[in-house]
Amino acid sequence: MAEGTRSKNPRVARRQRGDADADPGSARRKAAALESEQSPRRALDLLIRPTRAEIDLAALGRNIAAIRQLAPRAEILAIVKANAYGHGAVIIARALERERVKMLGVALIEEGIELRNAGVRSPILVLGGSYEGGYDLMVAHKLTPTVFRPEHLESLASAARRAGSTASAHLKIDSGMGRIGVLPQDLDAFLDRAAHFPQIRIDGLLSHFASADLENRDFTRQQVECFRDAHARMRARGLRPSWRHLSNSAGVIDLPQARDGLELNMVRPGIMLYGLYPAAWLRGTAALEPVLAWRTAVTHVKRVGAGTPISYGSTWRAPRESVIATLPMGYADGYSRRYSNRAQVLIRGRRANVVGRVCMDMSMADVTDIPDVRVGDEVVLLGEQGEERISAEELADLAQTIHYEVICAVGARVPRVVRSSTR
Ligand SMILES: Cc1ncc(COP(=O)(O)O)c(C=O)c1O
Repeated sequence: MAEGTRSKNPRVARRQRGDADADPGSARRKAAALESEQSPRRALDLLIRPTRAEIDLAALGRNIAAIRQLAPRAEILAIVKANAYGHGAVIIARALERERVKMLGVALIEEGIELRNAGVRSPILVLGGSYEGGYDLMVAHKLTPTVFRPEHLESLASAARRAGSTASAHLKIDSGMGRIGVLPQDLDAFLDRAAHFPQIRIDGLLSHFASADLENRDFTRQQVECFRDAHARMRARGLRPSWRHLSNSAGVIDLPQARDGLELNMVRPGIMLYGLYPAAWLRGTAALEPVLAWRTAVTHVKRVGAGTPISYGSTWRAPRESVIATLPMGYADGYSRRYSNRAQVLIRGRRANVVGRVCMDMSMADVTDIPDVRVGDEVVLLGEQGEERISAEELADLAQTIHYEVICAVGARVPRVVRSSTR
């Protein structure tokens, strides 16, 4: 960015100050200043290609502070499944441990083991249930399973016996999501069965909202009531699960009765940790800042005559003499082919149209109206540059999906790098 275009917006200005690449020609210098926390270092993290996802851990910390402000009496079970929504599970989990969140939530046993292998010690809840053969691994790696079928109890108890230990589990109630969980009418039978396994301590009770992101709260309130009823039935048997949790981000933001009442003492935010709002109507209702910025740099620039076709299928032809920049990223990196001829990227603080089909490893942008674009100029695919910003919501609209999918899609070969200025 040229001198004199510093933002008056303090958030933008802070990013600019901390950002080695305010000078558009310094992509390489910036890459060198960034540090990957993943170890052992993968060849894919060598930052030879300038495409990377930058993770702003200071923003993550501020998002956690916002969650604590909304739910001051609750502990946080931070959802880090799906590679921490594309942000890099190890980087995020380590940062969350430094922020003293109580528990981490993953979908898969494999994800939990990945964190343990990286030295993460916090309690980890495996939300997605288990599969045959998974219980020994969960016991060995001290991962807490979510249980909701009698055979989960049997397998967990056997694994604990084999290990000569006891195991704790969280019991999931299906209060209306219709996905996994004990149905309310089956709860008593399930608890009867659980009483046969002294090796298992039911240490948590959870359920999941199906539509807390909708403005109409009727169904969500029914789910809260169902959860309370289940908790009452457990208490009537003398069972006291230490952790009771129901609220995803939408619940944390806008459902006070479901986040930190005396019954509910834990919240399970995902998307808001990463600085995004769960739904458009909730935008701005909490002080959240995006954690991920997706950047690359121009690798080729050329001037082409009117009528020149660009990319597979020649779906775009230059309507006039044009300047075309080639960017080293494509759908194999998670930049959807649906963005072809639709998305925009930021170069020199200006928007440029993505033209022609997004390829597997490369994409093209029309920079005719942006003076002096050169090889090495920074390109923002997602995030801010100068006064401009491309949001996950903007890309989601183009691909007719939700912003959750846009960030989860950032591919395995895109290095996640921590902004060194924020550490
Ligand atoms: C069981 C469970 N809890 C919590 C969350 C977090 O949801 P959100 O990202 O909307 O906060 C998810 C996400 O899908 C989930 O599956």
